[in-house]
Amino acid sequence: MFLTRLIYASTIGDNFSQHSIEGILEAARCKNMKHNITGVLCFNCDYFLQCLEGPRADVNETYKRILNDDRHHSVVMLDYREIDSRDFSDWSMGYVPSSTISVPINLKFSEAADFNPYLMSGASAYMMLKALKQSVPTL
Ligand SMILES: Cc1cc2nc3c(=O)[nH]c(=O)nc-3n(C[C@H](O)[C@H](O)[C@H](O)COP(=O)(O)O)c2cc1C
Repeated sequence: MFLTRLIYASTIGDNFSQHSIEGILEAARCKNMKHNITGVLCFNCDYFLQCLEGPRADVNETYKRILNDDRHHSVVMLDYREIDSRDFSDWSMGYVPSSTISVPINLKFSEAADFNPYLMSGASAYMMLKALKQSVPTL
């Protein structure tokens, strides 16, 4: 089964409360461990940016479930490709809170000072997630 990476952006929905992030992460980590999915989730008050990596069928199944989740909407796939190795192999689902996403990081990888993943190419989103990984302790 081919190792695959998927990156998407989405907008936080009305059914999302600040407490939901804990629930999302707990469920995600539990399910991802069973399906050999690793990755990272970035979140601010408006948007999500998430990278999923793992066996192609598992990435696709996980993305399907995520697409149907009413805690977010306007899901846009930024990147989907086969990969030779994982970048987040030590994270069943790493979490990057908004406090970590600084103005310089946003300016480096997008056209805006605020975090808005819709304004990023797939390549920029991927580079940003890798840069943010350096700022967050391994789980
Ligand atoms: C922003 C966001 C990220 C999510 N990330 C994952 C994930 O990485 N893995 C996962 O299994 N579920 C993730 N979920 C939760 C799924 O959408 C879904 O609720 C969960 O997989 C349970 O699905 P089920 O009730 O059909 O079993 C995420 C949900 C949201 C809103």
